[in-house]
Amino acid sequence: LSGIQPTGRFHWGNYFGAIRQYIALQDNEQAFYFIADLHALTTVRNATTLRDFTRDAALDLLALGLDPAKATLFRQSDIPEVTELMWLLITLTPMSLLEKCHAYKDKLAKGLSADAGLFSYPVLMAADILLYDSNVVPVGVDQVQHIEVTRDLAIKFNLTYQRDVFVLPDARVMAETAKVVGTDGEKMSKSYGNTIELFEDAKKLRKKIMSIKTDSTPVEAPKNPETCPVFTLYKLFATAAQQSDLANRYRAGGMGYGEAKQALFEAADAFIGPARARREKLAANANDVEDVLQTGAKRARVKAQEVLNRAREACGLARRGS
Ligand code: ADP
Ligand code: TRP
Repeated sequence: LSGIQPTGRFHWGNYFGAIRQYIALQDNEQAFYFIADLHALTTVRNATTLRDFTRDAALDLLALGLDPAKATLFRQSDIPEVTELMWLLITLTPMSLLEKCHAYKDKLAKGLSADAGLFSYPVLMAADILLYDSNVVPVGVDQVQHIEVTRDLAIKFNLTYQRDVFVLPDARVMAETAKVVGTDGEKMSKSYGNTIELFEDAKKLRKKIMSIKTDSTPVEAPKNPETCPVFTLYKLFATAAQQSDLANRYRAGGMGYGEAKQALFEAADAFIGPARARREKLAANANDVEDVLQTGAKRARVKAQEVLNRAREACGLARRGS
């Protein structure tokens, strides 16, 4: 199981750090993926924007290869059980555990005021995970702390009520692309304004790539591919042979960064081309996407009701019929 927030269009960091893993793990036919629209409410405060981003997220995921015949794709807010489970968990959550969490801490450090939604965000995430007996949670490195909180809360609940109500989940991080760099060489993130969107059209994609920050080594001089963000990003899209070819050209000198950027553009554009075409087809049939989400929600709810009943019973609330 994993979730992704609809807080903007997906960028390369989202794909290589998270989405690609979802798709790789869907083949066992037990995967659950959801669009975390309830989490997005902590940042998106406009109804049209939230609806658009949610729909874009579904289209992007399907176009990238998420297959609803194999994986269950749904909207978080279509499963009301999740907010109820959040309450059961939050009554056992120490304040000190949430005070340590980075999303909240970072906001405070920047002098911004945090609301109770952001503060308790990790508990909603724990409910997301525990509600479906999830064992493997593919995420980017920045989410590992939240999976640890989830485990802590599951253990605490099981101990408090003396029953094995919840399965303990594990984070799955892909090490080699754990952190995708942005156009400024820092971690790619919406909040840093350094992203390259996955479904950018070819012209804008090229422009974005040309804006990647490089040093002022002259064209003739040999260059180090390993410290160059253009090369680092190229590795995401290129085969091993293409990578060693471009690395040799860096080291030989006589190649400007413009040429490396052009190589990156061509590789990225070729990579996204087929998904772009699939996305256009899907977008033309809006009802089909809604159907996928509804069918997914129905399937997910069956599991959610079973697990929530287990939790309700353990803490002394009545079981509920479906
Ligand atoms: P952003 O930082 O742009 O707001 P999100 O926090 O919405 O991105 O991230 C969604 C998912 O994508 C998370 O699982 C996160 O770990 C992953 N992710 C985001 N940016 C990167 C990156 N630069 N490198 C690797 N993974 C990333
Ligand atoms: N917090 C995650 C992020 O920002 C999104 C998310 C919400 C999630 N619930 C989840 C990820 C449950 C994995 C499991 O990326």
